[in-house]
Amino acid sequence: MNGKITLTMIKPFAVKQHHVGEILSDIEKAGFHIRALKMTQLPVEKAELFYAEHKEKPFFNELVAFMSSGPVVAALLEKENAVADFRALIGSTDPTKAAEGTIRRKYAKDMTRNAIHGSDSDENALRESRFFFSSMEEFKCC
Ligand code: RTP
Ligand code: MG
Repeated sequence: MNGKITLTMIKPFAVKQHHVGEILSDIEKAGFHIRALKMTQLPVEKAELFYAEHKEKPFFNELVAFMSSGPVVAALLEKENAVADFRALIGSTDPTKAAEGTIRRKYAKDMTRNAIHGSDSDENALRESRFFFSSMEEFKCC
């Protein structure tokens, strides 16, 4: 499945703003197949683990506090060239720089409340998919 999966997470502010349905619809219309789906709230320790690569960055504490502040919706997505195509669909990290029509341009509020996560490599897509969907039952596509 290398290259065919990516992991997304609709972030707390977008969930609170009732954008889950619209965002999942945009994702499906762009040709991604939803292979697993889960709403959950990350405790601080799990948010720290998920974003561990940013541990030394100045925005880490704010990021972790935000990501553990409310429910998220995680989804395992399948498509050819999944990681790159999904990053194009969501747009730039900073929503003011995100292209017209991208998910972040449509639903993000600011750099922290930027609506959605997308894996940045095939390796991270696999790691993050296992993070949310650990059982064989949940993780059947890969
Ligand atoms: P994500 O991992 O959530 O999909 O976001 P990304 O790849 O587009 O950006 P990344 O560099 O991985 O950063 C993770 C999240 O940290 C916040 N951030 N703030 N203030 C800043 O300079 C800054 N840089 C990053 C964003 O919320 C970003 O989504
Ligand atoms: Mg990232």
